[in-house]
Amino acid sequence: MPADRVLITSEQIQTRIREMAEEIERDYAPGPIYLVSVLKGSFIFVADLARALRRPNIRIEFMAISSYGNAKTSSGQVRLTRDLDVNIEGHQVLIVEDIIDSGLTLTYLKRLLEQRRPKSLEIATLLDKPERRVAPVAVKYVGFQIPDEFVVGYGLDYAEDYRNLNDIRILQQ
Ligand code: IMP
Ligand code: MG
Repeated sequence: MPADRVLITSEQIQTRIREMAEEIERDYAPGPIYLVSVLKGSFIFVADLARALRRPNIRIEFMAISSYGNAKTSSGQVRLTRDLDVNIEGHQVLIVEDIIDSGLTLTYLKRLLEQRRPKSLEIATLLDKPERRVAPVAVKYVGFQIPDEFVVGYGLDYAEDYRNLNDIRILQQ
């Protein structure tokens, strides 16, 4: 399956990440911000976002969730496969996602992390496919709204392939 239609170039991604980082720096009180990266899709985005943020105490933590298997549509079943290994109670927490599709993953994750009493809990996603939303979820920082297409690259995969592309491309059917 070819992935040759570029939807968002790497330059556009980097420009938008700098803008998002400025917005985040303005919104957050001084002190640590815990970036909770949802593996695997957000590993490149979190690396670039973290480096665009200027304060020294950007903490980077990882969680993993599985809902897709190798299919292109959500199974609707969200499973935690790797939990955090830090206590986030009383901290500023920002969940970092690659893409919001149905919203099921983030609804589940937000509920789970809220129970741990962070000082604040917000979401930053690089991509948003609003047309596909099943579970409404409040997302504070959105990189790009995209149409209902299956995209790969910049961390996003299809059956584990294409994560290493520098830009975001539409996977042809
Ligand atoms: P949701 O629970 O349906 O919102 O699914 C979110 C997750 O599905 C994302 O974190 C991705 O891993 C995956 N996903 C959704 N749409 C795409 C896409 O277009 N390309 C690659 N992965 C996707
Ligand atoms: Mg993901």
